[in-house]
Amino acid sequence: MIAYILCTVLAALPLLIYLRNPYFLKDLRYLVNSIYIGMRMGRINKKFYSILDCFLDKVAKHPHKKFMVFEESSYTYSQADKESNKVARALLTHAHLKEGDTVALFLGNEPRFVWIWLALSKLGCPASFLNYNIRSKSLLHCFSCCEAKVLIAGADLQEAVEEVLPTLKQEGILVFILREHCDVDGIESLSDKIQKASDEPLSPQLRANINIKTPALYIYTSGTTGLPKAALLNHERVWMATFVQTIAGVRSDDIIYMYLPLYHTAAFLMGLCGAIENGITIVLRSKFSASNFWNDCRKYNVTVIQYIGEIMRYLCNTPKRDNDKDHKVRLALGNGIRADTWTEFLDRFGNIHVCECYGATEGNIGFINYVGKVGAIGREHFLHKLGFPYALIRFDTEKEEPVRDSRGFCIEVPRGETGLFVGKIGKRTPFSGYAKNKQQTDKKKLRDVFEKGDVYFNSGDLLKIDNEGFIYFQDRIGDTFRWKGENVATTEVADHLLAVNFVEEANVYGVKVPGHEGRIGMAALKLKENMEFDSKAVYQHVKNYLPSYARPRFIRIQDALVVTGTFKQMKVKLAEEGFDPALIRDPLFYLEDNKGYIPMTQEIFSSIAEGRLRL
Ligand SMILES: *[C@@H]1O[C@H](CO)[C@@H](O)[C@H](O)[C@H]1NC(C)=O
Repeated sequence: MIAYILCTVLAALPLLIYLRNPYFLKDLRYLVNSIYIGMRMGRINKKFYSILDCFLDKVAKHPHKKFMVFEESSYTYSQADKESNKVARALLTHAHLKEGDTVALFLGNEPRFVWIWLALSKLGCPASFLNYNIRSKSLLHCFSCCEAKVLIAGADLQEAVEEVLPTLKQEGILVFILREHCDVDGIESLSDKIQKASDEPLSPQLRANINIKTPALYIYTSGTTGLPKAALLNHERVWMATFVQTIAGVRSDDIIYMYLPLYHTAAFLMGLCGAIENGITIVLRSKFSASNFWNDCRKYNVTVIQYIGEIMRYLCNTPKRDNDKDHKVRLALGNGIRADTWTEFLDRFGNIHVCECYGATEGNIGFINYVGKVGAIGREHFLHKLGFPYALIRFDTEKEEPVRDSRGFCIEVPRGETGLFVGKIGKRTPFSGYAKNKQQTDKKKLRDVFEKGDVYFNSGDLLKIDNEGFIYFQDRIGDTFRWKGENVATTEVADHLLAVNFVEEANVYGVKVPGHEGRIGMAALKLKENMEFDSKAVYQHVKNYLPSYARPRFIRIQDALVVTGTFKQMKVKLAEEGFDPALIRDPLFYLEDNKGYIPMTQEIFSSIAEGRLRL
């Protein structure tokens, strides 16, 4: 009888657990994975082991396994190793690199991006990944942030390099271009030197002083204000991002499809480094193509894809086909997918586990929605919170600052309420800040949050946590907005607008567009006295200096720009007012693709609102 009762209870136990927490098994798997990662980090800390060491171990373990497929070529782990040896030797001889010298890479997605990074790792040199869309002043600024002595550029970027060459020359920078010859004074060809170099392994002595805290990479973020900022990532931070694939459940027989730019964290850390950690095959593409996406996945037996929200929507917007579900993709890893797109994506392309992640390149704490709950960016887990303390605090969106209580401390919001996400800066959760930018680094630090002397990383993101512990993204505050997966720094755009001769003041902000993720750029301008808005001049300037995602799509002319009591520009109110000509009395302009600014009409507004005109 007792045995019978016991059996019944035991049999009912899973049901009871399930009723209390339907995510029990996934939570348990997360717990096990976290303990595994914690132990690995412990070992890595004790005896330093880099992603490069991990790569070399995989080369030894499966030299003939495919490492990378790109266009018509493919490379095994062993071939990749040899290719990078050649690059390292060419750079050692011709750039005289020493351990610790930073090298800037200005290159699109192609295998050489990876060979060069591996080569630099073999020489103990941090790599700085420049966004290949930037030009002139921004390019020089990014280059100088990381104090690189050497620049390596792709052949198709020679013009951009020549534009800033006089300054680079003045500063004694060695400039290499990935071509076989180059006649320009001050630019050396590199491809010929790589071809001639030996592929013999390099001595680990060359990188003997690298440890877990030394700089590994500089990755640029537009962060909150001004020009791009170089987030400094040490080896510890690189490892933490690398483990995202492990949490997401990537296996050693997976094949990952990578098309996002390698200079960003998503592709480089979560994609490439994670792939190395799991010893898997990468299918690399120079850029996203909606029409080739699924064909590529079928052709290369892709099982894991990376995404940003916009990409998922583009995929959903392609014409439906009979073979939409005919592929082997089982996991999608990324961030920024909206709930409606998520549901549509699953309906249309089948049973794919979408693993939405949240985190900033320079941030110290991130989340992973390992459960696959539609719409959430993460899930609270006690172990995660223990290791990575964070809070959502009350935020005043009018004053654009956290609310403080009578003692001057911040107030944690209750569950279900929106708050500013802040992560405690500590030994295990450091914030390395931005290279050569103390002011911006300090600006991301929030002090005396819950007690005197504590310091938190201010994410600038408003999040919400529901009763089940799922975390939802609500909004981004302050001086940045996201459009097409890129951060747009409002002050940088404003600086460019101010360079136009008739603009007196400029206030740049992002506005929501129905059916689109993120916010599109809009600017409120005050013109100089007795000057007219010259749409051609603004367009020419914006087109010359800003990448397409950062160009203000709408311009609003105001007699005076509204400021706060502390003379900060009001962005929230303007952003809420949007771009509806029926509601806004000020002159409004719309940037028509490849044409220029034209007066905004009700018809354009309706086309956008109804989704007939896609931005
Ligand atoms: C994909 O998988 C199929 C069946 O498993 C196999 O026949 C084919 O060769 C694979 N394709 C590639 C590019 O590896």
